[in-house]
Amino acid sequence: MACLSIFLAFLLTLTTLNGINAVEYTVTNRAPTTPGGIRFSNELGDNYTIKTMDQATIFFWRLFQQNTEADRKDVPRVSLFVDDMEGIAYASNNEIHVGDDYIEGIKGDIKWDFNGVLYHEMAHTWQWDGSAGTKAPVGLIEGIADFMRLKANYAPSQWVKPGEGDSWDQGYSVTARFLDYCNDLRNGFVAELNKKMRVTYNDNFFVELLGKPVDQLWRDYKAKFGN
Ligand SMILES: *[C@@H]1O[C@H](CO)[C@@H](O)[C@H](O)[C@H]1NC(C)=O
Repeated sequence: MACLSIFLAFLLTLTTLNGINAVEYTVTNRAPTTPGGIRFSNELGDNYTIKTMDQATIFFWRLFQQNTEADRKDVPRVSLFVDDMEGIAYASNNEIHVGDDYIEGIKGDIKWDFNGVLYHEMAHTWQWDGSAGTKAPVGLIEGIADFMRLKANYAPSQWVKPGEGDSWDQGYSVTARFLDYCNDLRNGFVAELNKKMRVTYNDNFFVELLGKPVDQLWRDYKAKFGN
């Protein structure tokens, strides 16, 4: 019973924060007795996690210029699970799964590191991926999620530096740094790219928005940083 009422209190809190267009967030620790699960309860906790999920959502809507409900993906509830699993985290079907081993092994500021992972996974929850038509390359989808993490100032020190990497769609921090370069060429570029991906995906979106093919932009980017 205590569990149920605490759970309801979470839903209530977030409904209030979001006003009428409420997104509900739930957190379930399914590894409550493993070292990582215990560390989650002691050093992060359900309330902190829900607050961060809500902040990440608001950050996404602002960064990706989704000012009205009609601009946004219709997601009434996002459920996070701390799972007894290897790997860091993944998102699917409006669920986020975070690995207990990852939480156990965080070095340095646990909240800062965890926030960065959550911002990436929350971006997956809200971003468009073109799958209504032609799905975007996985590397671009991961790069956009890491671009959000970068813009929220949660880029970890082990990320590649600007100009590093082998191809524009390599994914993660390589693509995030490249997208950041493109975004400097045209303020709001990544937001506009994401908007186009609501319908489908085409490499030609880079030409439409920046006037050059993506391969040319990648060469320009490498040249700028002397790589
Ligand atoms: C979590 O938030 C709820 C609702 O605001 C509050 O009642 C509860 O005391 C909080 N729990 C902790 C551990 O802070």
